[in-house]
Amino acid sequence: MSVTEEIKARLDVVTFLSQYINLKKAGRNYTGLCPFHSEKTPSFVVFPDSQNWRCFGACGEGGDIFTFLMKHEGLDFAAALKVLAEQAGVQLQERSADQLNRDEHLDKLRGLLDETTRFFHEKFVNSLEAAHARSYARKRGLTDQTFIDFRMGYAPNDWRQALDHLTQLGYTEDEIVEAGVAIRNEEKNSLYDRFRNRLVIPICDGRGQVIGFGARTLNPDDNPKYLNSPQTALFDKGATLFGLDKARRTIREGETAVIVEGYMDAIQAHQAGFTNVVAQMGTALTEAQLKQLGRYARRLILALDPDSAGVKATMRGLNVAMQTLGDSSLVFDPKGILRQAGKLNIEIMVVTLPEDQDPDDLIRDNPDGWRELVESAQPVVDYVIEAGTTSLTVKSTYTDREQIARDLLPILLATENDLQTNYNIQRLALKLRLDERMLIQWAQQNRRTTRTKGIANGNSNDGNNSQKPALQVLPAQDTTQILSPNREGAVQPEPLFDRERHCLATLIRNTNLLSSANRRLREVATKVPAAQEALGPLSAEDFVRSDFGVILEVWANALDQDDREPMDYLEQNLPYELCVEVERLLVTPLEAFKQRLNPAMHAELEAARRKRDASRLPSAQSEEEFLQRVLEQQVLELRKLRLGRENLELQFLQQDADPQMEMEYARRVSINRQAIRFIDQAVSQITHSQRAY
Ligand code: UTP
Ligand code: MN
Repeated sequence: MSVTEEIKARLDVVTFLSQYINLKKAGRNYTGLCPFHSEKTPSFVVFPDSQNWRCFGACGEGGDIFTFLMKHEGLDFAAALKVLAEQAGVQLQERSADQLNRDEHLDKLRGLLDETTRFFHEKFVNSLEAAHARSYARKRGLTDQTFIDFRMGYAPNDWRQALDHLTQLGYTEDEIVEAGVAIRNEEKNSLYDRFRNRLVIPICDGRGQVIGFGARTLNPDDNPKYLNSPQTALFDKGATLFGLDKARRTIREGETAVIVEGYMDAIQAHQAGFTNVVAQMGTALTEAQLKQLGRYARRLILALDPDSAGVKATMRGLNVAMQTLGDSSLVFDPKGILRQAGKLNIEIMVVTLPEDQDPDDLIRDNPDGWRELVESAQPVVDYVIEAGTTSLTVKSTYTDREQIARDLLPILLATENDLQTNYNIQRLALKLRLDERMLIQWAQQNRRTTRTKGIANGNSNDGNNSQKPALQVLPAQDTTQILSPNREGAVQPEPLFDRERHCLATLIRNTNLLSSANRRLREVATKVPAAQEALGPLSAEDFVRSDFGVILEVWANALDQDDREPMDYLEQNLPYELCVEVERLLVTPLEAFKQRLNPAMHAELEAARRKRDASRLPSAQSEEEFLQRVLEQQVLELRKLRLGRENLELQFLQQDADPQMEMEYARRVSINRQAIRFIDQAVSQITHSQRAY
């Protein structure tokens, strides 16, 4: 039993809430005036059976004793846990001292970087010695407002100014070095400022807190052009996207992110009002970066360098990369991006910039041109085919054309969908004037060595079976199939919690699943406008277990921020007891859940896995896609159960409500029923679409 369950078992909801509200018995349940909004007739109901409460009036809130105390006293879960544990006489464990020290230390480094930013910015805006920096920035078309918005700074042409300033503020030399602001010369045992006579661009995490700097030289003879902060406890260049803190809202609204290469490109874009632009700071686009964007964006537009030599080199490198690095080779190349995008369900588009112009120049010269360019972005596969065949002329020999085909095929094979792949191969064949059947044959050979299935007829069925069994996951009524395999065993797990546990574990293992599940709910909601509310995003109330609900909510917040890995965020923001619960969720192998799935589905999952294992090729995501479907379906089932619970409660209330309220309750019951019907439809649609896949 988890701590929260133990507390709930000891504290009865009716007794507990009676400390705050005057409750009157009504049938099996209790009613009272809702403490969360003012009302004259009671619409607040407590259900001893489920140990829950709910307000059926204006606020519509509901939950258990934890949520009640949180809401009533304005506490977070951890604080409520403390209070309730004490009342219940349950002992809580404390977060480790190590963890606390580490958090404190990181906070200190953040403070240090903030002070440094302030110092450089103050210099840049006001000091005489920064005159050349200001005029440089103005010459590049940046406005005073942009200086402020991006907190741009100037690092003085000196060895110790930043260092002295920070030391005076009480930071130790070790801290200043650790934050990357100063450098220690071990031999001479001396310290000096890292950034000197440079235009300083602060790099922020998702919350807008400075974690590092990119500093541009103001003297053409200085190298490198941009000097960046080193890797620190706060700054991981490969996991950071410059400008994301400022771009996130727009990206979320339009579900589209534009990725450029440099700081100045992004700053210029934001200044011109293109606020969905982020920069990947010159390096390869990493999986961590793509994953972050995948939380907000369905579409990524890459504004690549026009340098065609670069494109060619990238493509040639692909075959090598694929053979040597296998699956871990996620770099800023079309194949890696395709594969990752497929996994994350993101559409990748590419913009080709005019020769010798980067977004910075283009936006400054012609903002409308930039807008049009972005709107004309091509799907990445089209781009690859086009860019890969630019060298083609009427004089190209058969060998040339064959070589291009061999270069491009692996990239085309990286698309996740066989039908699409075949279509793309056909297009390539046409372009290269090669025999389409030959290309398809090559592709097949390529796959046969890496994968168990052929692609020849655009139909990925496994030989003899013309259709795969339909997906059937944990039907809501039939709980017997999800019981523990240990049927005779002593412990009979509650099937409902099992479903909740499975959902939560899956969601935490895959950062992109929550948004895909919510998208499903939204899809259903568009069909029943009246039921928008009943079909909102997955929330704590979908879980009967309130600790699961809290974990889900903190997890949603974790995915909504960028300054640390979601798992770290979870660990830092959950009370220790719930961290333990998360760990328990994660150590239970998904296998254990899978064994409880019905046989047809289990077999299919196995097939998907074999296919992946046999494959070093990108279309390995079939199992993931499958799990995503399963999860979406499970989430829909959870919602259905929740609406069912709500309806039971509403029907109870109808019994002795006045006629007006009775009508209102009846209306809600019918909306919930409608929502349930559409959920059923959506579930059977998922089941159905699984056949084709
Ligand atoms: P670019 O050389 O294209 O820089 O490198 P840019 O943004 O066009 O620079 P300006 O316009 O001359 O000021 C693109 C990105 O690569 C990283 C930076 O993040 C830069 O914005 N970079 C480049 C470095 O980190 N160090 C370097 O020396 C050069
Ligand atoms: Mn530039």
